[in-house]
Amino acid sequence: MIAETSLKELPLSFVLTSEQQDIQAMVREIAQKEFAPKAAEIDRNHRFPRENFELMAASDLCGLLFPESYGGVGLDHVCYSIAVEEIARACATTSVVYSAHCSLTAAPVLQWGTEEQKEKFLTPMARGSKLGAFALSEPGSGSDAAAARCMAHQDGDQFILNGTKNWITNGAEADFYLVIAQTDTSLKHKGLVALMVEKGAPGFSFGKLEDKLGIKGSSTCSLIFEDTPVPVANMLGKVGDGFKVSMSTLDGGRIGIASQAVGIAQGAWDSAAKYACERVAFGKKLNQLQAIQFMLAEMATEIETARLLTYNACQAQDRGEKFTSQAAIAKLYASEMAMRATVKCVQIFGGYGYVTDYPAERYMRDAKITEIYEGTSEVQRIVIASNMLKGQ
Ligand code: CAA
Repeated sequence: MIAETSLKELPLSFVLTSEQQDIQAMVREIAQKEFAPKAAEIDRNHRFPRENFELMAASDLCGLLFPESYGGVGLDHVCYSIAVEEIARACATTSVVYSAHCSLTAAPVLQWGTEEQKEKFLTPMARGSKLGAFALSEPGSGSDAAAARCMAHQDGDQFILNGTKNWITNGAEADFYLVIAQTDTSLKHKGLVALMVEKGAPGFSFGKLEDKLGIKGSSTCSLIFEDTPVPVANMLGKVGDGFKVSMSTLDGGRIGIASQAVGIAQGAWDSAAKYACERVAFGKKLNQLQAIQFMLAEMATEIETARLLTYNACQAQDRGEKFTSQAAIAKLYASEMAMRATVKCVQIFGGYGYVTDYPAERYMRDAKITEIYEGTSEVQRIVIASNMLKGQ
């Protein structure tokens, strides 16, 4: 077993390499120019931003993390975190479409897939010609992931899938779905299997699109399987590996959500600071009032802390260490920070923060989901405590 690095040993200051700075500048330009102006409309119309995904594909962002041999660019996880942050700063919906595609669907194929599976599923996802989705949650199981009841019965060289997966990001829009299913309920988590399912498979349909509080364009729906055949050749790992595939995938996914939370909070800070430089109250600009300065200072301090925790988790992943705790710590802190920061943003805007003419209320609505998906804040606390207390 790989030993987890003690948190005391981890560097907490950070200088971006020139490559990471280049990615930051490139993604910031795309996101601010192309995504930010449409974010309110995507939110208002609950519209899946297909053109944003296509632009990310054309800009090689879908393959950022993946080796050149599979159509990617082969950059590190800090670059990936920077990309998610910059996208979320402009449009939270677009950032979750991107992170569910990269962290939750393409990355597990790289980690768990055979050469044939990588060629078939990873290369098109790295190129962005196919979109991915990850299906773990069910109507009756969210935090208790091992309680999945979507069944996969093996019949010769195929599995027959029956059941429903819930809350699936990119649900109705994806081409490839990483579906976690149960082969034998008596085996609990040891009976789970991870299967790559393609859109259009017989008996595979979608439930209604969810009407969500935030990230409204990300196409969240249930997946319904009725005697859906899936080739055994599409299984990642072996029967019984499904839970480990999920948990290792979520380790990486949680870095994506931490980055998303940092980006949403940074977007809120940018808007609040701009508003505070313009709005006059009591004969002064808001930014000259100490009450407002303190809120902006607290937001900036917490955003910087969350960003460093997130880079820290990325570096552990890049060093090839077990990074479960670091990812959970980053996600827990960043998501709760994003709620605090976006509530302050609404407060700084006052009445204007409560109406849709300004983005403040959207940041607050978008931030909330980061405390829920890819493991609630309570699940992160379980993961952190259980990993850090191991062997004590
Ligand atoms: N990597 C690899 N293996 C892991 C692991 C990890 N990070 N964490 C646990 N495992 C392994 C353990 O080693 C253990 O293996 P053995 O059986 O061989 O001993 C096995 O998994 C079971 O581990 P636990 O006993 O710790 O499992 P648990 O049932 O107690 O897990 C839990 C509890 C941490 C709460 C887990 O169920 C969990 O993370 N739940 C949250 C699920 C979640 O995040 N869902 C989000 C859905 S996806 C989503 O939101 C996507 C989206 O659309 C954006």
